[in-house]
Amino acid sequence: MSCRVAVLISGSGTNLQALIDARQHGALGPAELVGVFSNRPGAGGLERAERAGIPTCVIDHRQYADRSAFDQAMQAALESWQPDLLVLAGFMRILTEPFVTRYAGRMLNIHPSLLPRYPGLNTHARALAAGDAEHGATIHFVTGELDGGPAILQARVPIKASDTAEQLAARVQRKEHQIYPAVVRWFSEGRLTMQQGHAYMDGNAIHPTGLDWDALDNAPDTDPN
Ligand code: GRF
Repeated sequence: MSCRVAVLISGSGTNLQALIDARQHGALGPAELVGVFSNRPGAGGLERAERAGIPTCVIDHRQYADRSAFDQAMQAALESWQPDLLVLAGFMRILTEPFVTRYAGRMLNIHPSLLPRYPGLNTHARALAAGDAEHGATIHFVTGELDGGPAILQARVPIKASDTAEQLAARVQRKEHQIYPAVVRWFSEGRLTMQQGHAYMDGNAIHPTGLDWDALDNAPDTDPN
């Protein structure tokens, strides 16, 4: 059975591209990318979707009086795709409680830090300023708590003494592009669930900081950067 996935973006959509590529290489399991939604008319990811033949929908949040009105319009648009899963991939909006409740257990987000460290913005600069030895990305189920839902998978990268925030962001993003397709595949295969606010993989509770990508059976990381 296929799993209908809608991807929500606000920006360049490199994570969306990773999902598109994975799908084209048969690496997304039964997940099917049924639509890409953006709250920003110029989002680069829209072109990526169009190039891949995926339907797009743009609703500019600035046209709505408040979050609630925007979320209702967004929900109506998304429902026309009958999604089984919503994938937030650089979607820069805080969601209202009814929207989060509607998609509880079937909405994922990727955040560029090793949560619970650095929820919110400017994560790379914050990790550098703190003198951390490592940084990374976390994929989690979305709940009402900003960047606070149960973690599913984390990928770590080292921080080098010479790093700028941009260099560090690029290193983290290369990991993001590996881990998001994997998690979408797991979900689409029915392996991943959220129950009573906890994440489960194959029926086993996932540790609060998520599974560790490098501890899983993956190809060795040969990234020199
Ligand atoms: C990623 O770094 C992701 O972690 C964060 O927003 C960024 C989106 O990048 N939530 P892109 O649009 O997928 O290139």
